Amino acid sequence: MRPRYIYITLLLLLVLIPAGYYYVDWSKGGMGAGLYSHQWQPESGQQYWYPDAFYKSVDSMSGEFTGEQCVQCHSSVTPGIVNDWRKSGHAKVAADGSQVFCSDCHGNNHQNLKMPTPDVCAKCHSQQHADFQDEKRYGFPSHALAMERAVDAKHFVDKPKAEVTSCIQCHSVATKCDSCHTRHRFSAAEARRPEACITCHSGPPHPDDATYFASAHGKLYQKEGASWDWSKPLKKGNYPAPTCAYCHMGEGKHQVADKSIWKFGIRQINPLSSGNVVKREKWVKLCSDCHEADWSRQQLRGMDAERKQAWGKLYKAEGILKSPRSDNLLSPAAGERPPYPNDWVDARWPRARIGFFEGQASAFYNVSPIERDYFEMWYFDNLGAYKGAAHGAANFVTKGHQNMDRALIDIEAEAVRLRNLGEAERAYLGDRYDPNKLWLSGEYTELNREQN
Ligand code: HEC
Ligand code: HEC
Ligand code: HEC
Ligand code: HEC
Ligand code: HEC
Ligand code: HEC
Ligand code: HEC
Ligand code: HEC
Repeated sequence: MRPRYIYITLLLLLVLIPAGYYYVDWSKGGMGAGLYSHQWQPESGQQYWYPDAFYKSVDSMSGEFTGEQCVQCHSSVTPGIVNDWRKSGHAKVAADGSQVFCSDCHGNNHQNLKMPTPDVCAKCHSQQHADFQDEKRYGFPSHALAMERAVDAKHFVDKPKAEVTSCIQCHSVATKCDSCHTRHRFSAAEARRPEACITCHSGPPHPDDATYFASAHGKLYQKEGASWDWSKPLKKGNYPAPTCAYCHMGEGKHQVADKSIWKFGIRQINPLSSGNVVKREKWVKLCSDCHEADWSRQQLRGMDAERKQAWGKLYKAEGILKSPRSDNLLSPAAGERPPYPNDWVDARWPRARIGFFEGQASAFYNVSPIERDYFEMWYFDNLGAYKGAAHGAANFVTKGHQNMDRALIDIEAEAVRLRNLGEAERAYLGDRYDPNKLWLSGEYTELNREQN
């Protein structure tokens, strides 16, 4: 190779690398947050869910106050908050006479109030905060990374505001610490109960609530939980049956991703990789608080077998979808529906998208019915079956697989129908029916983006 080519390549890199950094920096500099911050603006309620990015203090009141003054005035302004605070560990007078006042979390200056982020709690609870931050090394999904996951999702910025405003309510588990121990009681006992998790861990892609309550553990909790002593930490011997936090945050470790193998059930994983074998043994150790170790290992292997079966079905569906797609029988086809914001590659060279890497973001809307069937099979039936297997709810496994079998039959029949329809159209029109701009200017398009 001539030296000139090396220089040119080096020069190009010298320009392109800073340009890349500059672009990412710029993309985060808009009114919203995350990679698409220029495409959306926060609603005023969202400032409480993502205080670091959006909170602006009220300025109707001026003055700096002591902790006692905050409590005194707020006893009439927000009595519920003050009552909860009084019952909390924070109001307890310590040996040195100190208490944790409103001002310790919100600041003293009423025109420059703060909504507390995890960093504020870290001042006094460094262990929990450190655990929580450390979770990031396990990658997605994780509580510590939940906010970026939501705002960097393509469908978050693409869909109409009304449908996505609350995404960051659940995903605020990353940006404030009052998700499981709610303000202003901040009670550890409350967080140990399953109800603390299910405000967010419910609904068809993640039916953790329904699968837990249908399991032997959940049944025991429902029957006897009222008489358990919730002031005890989540340790071996303290509880007769496990709750969400017992299994996922054992011994009070503020991490939920450290044992995760199947990661939401959304992609195929090899449970026998060396890293996953280590994680599995952590699960077995946990189950062994109450069960025999080998018995537990077998239960967990049952979940792997369920996953293998499910992925067989999902691949089969993707196989059926291949030919209508390559023969241009889908309507709308790739290129007939709007590309995602900032997705210049897709705008120039539209390609069909399905499966893990594209599927979740792409398949929510503006897809043909057969693709939507596949999406529901993958995102609802498959994930429901997974959670059934993970949490020991046999009825969810059966139901999920029944639905997947049904979806396969429907997808197969629809593929045949599309092929016949395509042939008829081509015989009659000489070409495939052209939807023109129908899908490009309908619902979920530029029009809606303007309102983001
Ligand atoms: C003399 C009465 C008074 C005192 C003292 C007072 N507050 Fe307030 N506070 C209010 C009122 C009234 C509001 C509602 C203001 C509004 O909505 O514009 C409020 C609102 C708030 C809010 C909600 C802000 C928001 O954006 O939702 C917080 C947090 C707060 N106060 C904390 C404090 C703290 C901390 C102190 C002590 C440093 C304090 N307050 C002292 C009267 C008081
Ligand atoms: C241990 C820290 C802590 C203490 C102490 C504390 N708060 Fe808060 N407060 C929070 C957190 C966390 C939030 C939720 C922040 C968010 O939504 O972004 C909050 C939210 C609020 C809000 C706005 C949301 C709402 O529910 O209306 C008000 C008002 C408020 N606090 C008032 C008070 C008052 C008054 C006191 C003292 C009696 C107090 N806080 C003590 C942590 C604290
Ligand atoms: C100024 C120090 C300080 C700050 C800031 C603080 N805490 Fe605390 N926290 C305490 C003290 C002191 C206790 C009481 C410990 C005890 O009961 O022995 C406590 C207790 C707790 C408990 C346990 C209560 C129980 O039921 O056992 C939780 C949960 C908690 N804090 C959460 C938070 C959260 C969340 C934040 C941030 C929004 C926060 N704290 C901010 C000092 C603080
Ligand atoms: C405020 C909402 C909220 C609450 C409350 C909440 N979570 Fe989560 N949780 C989430 C979100 C959002 C994610 C997905 C994060 C992402 O997209 O990366 C998640 C992810 C998880 C994961 C998946 C980790 C992985 O690696 O696959 C587990 C396990 C989990 N949470 C357990 C719990 C438990 C146990 C509780 C109750 C003690 C709880 N969560 C309470 C919102 C919440
Ligand atoms: C009811 C609470 C809730 C709402 C609302 C919600 N999510 Fe989630 N989300 C979760 C939970 C819980 C998980 C993790 C489930 C698991 O690990 O099993 C999750 C997972 C995810 C993931 C996958 C994480 C990964 O790493 O694979 C993405 C992306 C995501 N959510 C984005 C969004 C977007 C965008 C919206 C709004 C359209 C939204 N979420 C609305 C609770 C919620
Ligand atoms: C996913 C739910 C969840 C979230 C989010 C969460 N906690 Fe906790 N927290 C718990 C549970 C469960 C316990 C009880 C642990 C036990 O029994 O050992 C707890 C207990 C605590 C305690 C009391 C510890 C003790 O030994 O008494 C403190 C302090 C605390 N959390 C602080 C925080 C802080 C700070 C954050 C934000 C970084 C946070 N928590 C976020 C679930 C959560
Ligand atoms: C008996 C222990 C146990 C209980 C109780 C439990 N889980 Fe799980 N959970 C598991 C196991 C095991 C998995 C599969 C983990 C794996 O291999 O990835 C799992 C998976 C999950 C996942 C997906 C993360 C992943 O690793 O794929 C979430 C989210 C979750 N559980 C939330 C909850 C919630 C919320 C509750 C309470 C309503 C709950 N769990 C109760 C054991 C438990
Ligand atoms: C804190 C104690 C405790 C822990 C930890 C625990 N379990 Fe259980 N489990 C129980 C109890 C109690 C029962 C009810 C026994 C019965 O049905 O007679 C049960 C029942 C079950 C059942 C139903 C058994 C049957 O015969 O139908 C399964 C499956 C199960 N557990 C799996 C697990 C797995 C897997 C883990 C670890 C991820 C685990 N358990 C962790 C206490 C626990």
